[in-house]
Amino acid sequence: MQQHGTLFKTLQLPCGVVLKNRIAKSAMSDSLSDGTGHPTSEQIRLYQRWAEGGLAVSIIGEVQGSSNYAEKPGNLVLNAASDLAQFRELAKRGSENDTLLWLQLGHAGALAYQPTSNPKGPSALDLLGLSCAALTKDEIHQIPLEFARTAKLAQQAGFSGVQIHAAHGFLLSQFLSPLFNKRGDEYGGTIANRMKLLLASIEATRAAVGPNFPIAVKLNSSDQLVGGLDAEEALKVVAALDGSSVDLIDISGGTYFPGAKSANDGAGRGPYFIEFAKSARALTTKPLMLTGGFKTRAQAEEAVASGVVDVVGLARALALEPARPNLWMADQTPEPAFPRFSEAPEGGITAWYTMRLTEIGADNKTSDVGDLEQAIRDYEARDQTRTEVWLRHFPN
Ligand SMILES: Cc1cc2nc3c(=O)[nH]c(=O)nc-3n(C[C@H](O)[C@H](O)[C@H](O)COP(=O)(O)O)c2cc1C
Repeated sequence: MQQHGTLFKTLQLPCGVVLKNRIAKSAMSDSLSDGTGHPTSEQIRLYQRWAEGGLAVSIIGEVQGSSNYAEKPGNLVLNAASDLAQFRELAKRGSENDTLLWLQLGHAGALAYQPTSNPKGPSALDLLGLSCAALTKDEIHQIPLEFARTAKLAQQAGFSGVQIHAAHGFLLSQFLSPLFNKRGDEYGGTIANRMKLLLASIEATRAAVGPNFPIAVKLNSSDQLVGGLDAEEALKVVAALDGSSVDLIDISGGTYFPGAKSANDGAGRGPYFIEFAKSARALTTKPLMLTGGFKTRAQAEEAVASGVVDVVGLARALALEPARPNLWMADQTPEPAFPRFSEAPEGGITAWYTMRLTEIGADNKTSDVGDLEQAIRDYEARDQTRTEVWLRHFPN
């Protein structure tokens, strides 16, 4: 029998909120909203199943404050026009079993979904597979306020925290990255300038939700691209976050830039960004979460027991088995096998895991996602249907 004492100890965040254990479901865009930005019954059931499965924190990926820069047409959109009652139901079910249910505040910026958006990022880009206009200064000034408004609504609807998404090449990560951010004003140039929008977003969100509501940040340890945000600069962001009001820094890496590695295709056997986490630990007393590459209880246990991180973030592991925390707690072995995909077409693995989430939400007893080609077909067909609904629902 393995030791799992540390993994199942509580953790108090700086804002006072207590996590019942050290396992978080890292943010996953589930593509299960209805195309008008509202939750579906499958989506509510998905979060309920994760809650039943024993994790401490469950983070809903890519919740948009506006319909203009969504990552996908299956994203939730939470703003003054939303029907809060539907969000309350999601918050209630996903918070069962003393689970903290947080919304990830998203804005895809330059990577906004083209069929429903006119993408805009820190700077205009015109590359193969990536083209966008530059945000004006006035538009930039509105962004922290928009995050803050969505966070306040999340609090009113019964969600128990938010995560500001500053990873994977979406808007705030674009501002941090010299590849996307070529601005000549106070938001570009030095890393101190490039992190201004992130710090302003935290400040505005904290002012909106008050001192006792968890705010996390998901940050790239590196873009894993030549010319992108590197570890040295990312550590400067960690040092700045130490002086902010955030409650948890979630470490990730990788960027959706044409041809780049994404956060779920790191190499090697163990957690991907552990060396960075060790360096970050020396710079901050904020609780650290590490996401990427955790497959076994022993890896998760060691990351926490060694003191390197406080929380482990799991995405694919919880898409394969939503009750994994309970199984770990009950010493159930062996660990379920991860599928191996050779020669995956671009986007294939994300599509496969997203369709797997659909199965969990549908309470399917057996898994029938099919191969990667099938998953991509199903995923794209659903996106197309959602896009039609989205374009009818949201005025341009
Ligand atoms: C289907 C799927 C959707 C994802 N969507 C998001 C997202 O919306 N926001 C985010 O920060 N990360 C997202 N990720 C990345 C995961 O949170 C995580 O960083 C990555 O998968 C590595 O963790 P893992 O090795 O435990 O899967 C997604 C991953 C998958 C597989």
